[in-house]
Amino acid sequence: MITINEHYLKLQASYLFSDIAQRVVSFQEKNPDREIIRLGIGDVTKGLPKACIEAFHRAVDEMAEDGSFRGYGPEQGYAFLREAIAENDFRSRGADITAEEIFVSDGAKCDTGNIQELFSSDAKVALPDPVYPVYLDTNVMAGRTKEFEGGRYGGIVYLDSTKENNFVPDLPSEQVDLIYLCFPNNPTGSTISKAQLKQWVEYARDNKALILFDAAYEAFIRDDSLPKSIYEIDGAKEVAIEFRSFSKNAGFTGTRCAYTVVPKECRAYDSQGNRQDLHFLWNRRHCTKFNGVSYPVQRAAEAVYSQDGKKQVRDLVGYYMRNADLIRKEIAALGYSYVGGENSPYIWIEGGQDSWQFFDMLLDKAGVVCTPGAGFGKCGQGYIRISAFNSYENVQKAMERIRAVLG
Ligand code: MLT
Repeated sequence: MITINEHYLKLQASYLFSDIAQRVVSFQEKNPDREIIRLGIGDVTKGLPKACIEAFHRAVDEMAEDGSFRGYGPEQGYAFLREAIAENDFRSRGADITAEEIFVSDGAKCDTGNIQELFSSDAKVALPDPVYPVYLDTNVMAGRTKEFEGGRYGGIVYLDSTKENNFVPDLPSEQVDLIYLCFPNNPTGSTISKAQLKQWVEYARDNKALILFDAAYEAFIRDDSLPKSIYEIDGAKEVAIEFRSFSKNAGFTGTRCAYTVVPKECRAYDSQGNRQDLHFLWNRRHCTKFNGVSYPVQRAAEAVYSQDGKKQVRDLVGYYMRNADLIRKEIAALGYSYVGGENSPYIWIEGGQDSWQFFDMLLDKAGVVCTPGAGFGKCGQGYIRISAFNSYENVQKAMERIRAVLG
């Protein structure tokens, strides 16, 4: 008899963003004449930067000729891209990361979901609440949690991110092994200072723990005193893995390219307490389960680091941040309290009512899709998230409609 992985039965019925998409589809079916503006899922709307698309085209043409055609590439990514990443995203900011420590992939969602395979099933997991659901759900699937009760899974250490701590969780009061952090944060848009991040690195070093640091939104940091990478903190290379993505900075949500940094000295331990090399293990997993990102996509990603590419990416990020500024201004004028949107594309708004009710009300009355905070965890109840990823015109229109409903 074939039996299932029963940990899947503990999961909530559907993945948050699929659930929202389904609700929007059914609303649209019932209201075919209503124009809906989507400020829910953080999906970009503007075309790829010109430098990327040109590189993409050139690489596609190379694939057409026997002489320049490429078959399977290195699973970890082509050297040209890994070198450009190490130089531009790390060494230029004083973080000593080498090209060999970069693993190119098809998305930070996949990498943040897959990484937990490296750790024992009884590893004690700590994650923020609210949280990007992928971190939690993949640990549920792997059996690291007990049942879901009262809005939380047993066995997980939830790190409350609330107004009281400015949406930066405090260190856990009990010992944990695996810690997920995301800054600039999804969903709250909050940021962490170097001094705060240093405390987490010290915690991990003192407790033989490991930090999984999701920096997918680093391009939106405008305050240069904030860390863009955890490797800007001394001692982090031993205790942290970092995830990055080309999705939000360069518009690759549909093109798919990201990377994970696993430094050579990054360690975990076996059951005997012997030090084990995570770079080696991730490489082993990556080579077994992944065959690399396509050559044209990697050439397009490499172009992000060209002179033109850098400027175009800055402009793209600036475009969305202008939307974020408008959303913040309008929300403040309506008298709602919020966080985020200054160094991130997400604005986290305290709605003063049930998150899903607020979501339904905005959809029904304003035709605007947001993301209900409760979908990210118990501490998200009462909040909604508005994303800055849409055209400026649509954001203007959405905010006018929201003003008419809430004003
Ligand atoms: C979000 O809206 O939280 C993100 O778009 C989800 C993702 O990047 O997978």
